[in-house]
Amino acid sequence: MNDPEKLAAHNRKIAKNMMQSVFELASDLAGLGIFPEQAAKSRNAMPIHQRLGQIQQAIEQLRADLATLRGPYLGQQLQGLGVNQTSKNLQLHIGSGPYILDGWINLDIFPAQLSTNVLWGLPFTNGQCRYVFLSHLLEHLFYPTDAMGLLKEIHRVLEPGGIVRIVVPDIEQCLRAYQENNAAFFEQRVEHWGAGDGNATRLEHFLSYAGAGPDPAWLFEAHKFGYDFETLERALQRAGFKTIHRSQFMGSEHAALRVDEHSQVASAKFGDNYYSLFVEAQKE
Ligand SMILES: C[S@@+](CC[C@H](N)C(=O)[O-])C[C@H]1O[C@@H](n2cnc3c(N)ncnc32)[C@H](O)[C@@H]1O
Repeated sequence: MNDPEKLAAHNRKIAKNMMQSVFELASDLAGLGIFPEQAAKSRNAMPIHQRLGQIQQAIEQLRADLATLRGPYLGQQLQGLGVNQTSKNLQLHIGSGPYILDGWINLDIFPAQLSTNVLWGLPFTNGQCRYVFLSHLLEHLFYPTDAMGLLKEIHRVLEPGGIVRIVVPDIEQCLRAYQENNAAFFEQRVEHWGAGDGNATRLEHFLSYAGAGPDPAWLFEAHKFGYDFETLERALQRAGFKTIHRSQFMGSEHAALRVDEHSQVASAKFGDNYYSLFVEAQKE
């Protein structure tokens, strides 16, 4: 296999299969307790903890090797975008997916205008950005560690007075719809998002939306957490934001941030209501 794109997809698939295997390995070890080490000893075989240590070391070495590539990889892309350390007033669209906003730096995993992993931090110096927009990205990060890491990074790269607009699934509405047995909420969710075999129960909808129970191999793509306004507001406060308010679909006071309509999921509705929670925060 020589095609670099096919190789990249192949490598990602191997890593996903490994996530599944490592989870199953941990479950096996939990089930077997002291027996594997005793069996290894009686057979004069290498102890299990040594075998595990070798595997862990090989993974950490590979990660360390890959980490040395981040700088050149990002530097090359930023140069292509005409961004350097003195650039100002940048508009950063994080987790853009297929929705490319003109005049914005559209960032996602490969392939993207700026391909990166947000868990590495944002490749900008303090205060370079005027606006940051992220739609249906935050719930894909583990909370609180990774989500808080990103919110703090956003606060760092925003200039004083700069604004972040965040769109996430509104879990409070989902809970209300469950409680009220709101058929429109769940039926229209299938139209917008699909739902397994199409026969998902309200609880299955809720749990996949709110971030519970994906297979380990699908952890990257799956929702890992869910937000209501109270929780997102508190997370933003902990990241350093003081002025935070709930917004509406396309309801930003800032013309540059009236961009929700470019995202199919941010635009998704049931009846007259949107599935999403829209929040803006300003850096002092
Ligand atoms: C549900 S899609 C949302 C796409 C688009 N923003 C929208 O509103 O439809 C989530 C996006 O976040 C990206 N994403 C998830 N985790 C990421 C990470 N660690 N680094 C960069 N992008 C990530 C995914 O690749 C995907 O494009």
